[in-house]
Amino acid sequence: WVAAAVAALLAYLVGSLSFAVLVSRVMGLADPRTYGSGNPGATNVLRSGSKAAALLTLLLDGLKGWAPVWASARWGSNWGLADGALACVGLAAFLGHLFPVWFRFRGGKGVATAAGVMLAWVPPLGLLVVFTWVAVALTLRYSSLAAIVAALAAPLGYGWLDGLWWEARLPIAAAMVAMVALLLWRHAGNIQRLLAGQESRIGERSRAAK
Ligand code: G3P
Repeated sequence: WVAAAVAALLAYLVGSLSFAVLVSRVMGLADPRTYGSGNPGATNVLRSGSKAAALLTLLLDGLKGWAPVWASARWGSNWGLADGALACVGLAAFLGHLFPVWFRFRGGKGVATAAGVMLAWVPPLGLLVVFTWVAVALTLRYSSLAAIVAALAAPLGYGWLDGLWWEARLPIAAAMVAMVALLLWRHAGNIQRLLAGQESRIGERSRAAK
């Protein structure tokens, strides 16, 4: 379990890199915590008007979820890392994004990082989740709604397609449910705005931080 704890700690530290803030800083843009939704995430970086910064944030926030799980699965068997460890590593990277040690524990909502983790845990399920996000985002143009629907699709799809596409693994399933619950909780403000018809659509420029 020492190897699992070390892997999870490293994943948490990597997950704590808030790429929305770092990319914006490097590209000379305003801090995303000061405009739009105030969320350090790709959707809010897009409100700065820079598609390149938003895309880079999306890819790097996804990569920091994918890479620790992938590396643990690839090399971890030498250290006795099994499914329980892979579940903890993925959850740790996600928690790093939500509560980043490098940014006073004030992080984002975890959508890109969760997608990266899912792609590493169960690649076909990760793709299903990404396609769900894209489909909802393209049709309804709400990033938050796309994230909520895609997040709910993950555990449902995992359970539903168990035995058809993959063998569901209990530690992964438990970590997935925890991750989805946290992601929904972080979207509480978005859900309220969606219900009130006040959520901004993808591509709308920045408004006062809230
Ligand atoms: O990735 C976060 C997204 O689902 C919502 O972002 O900035 O509209 O709160 P935002």
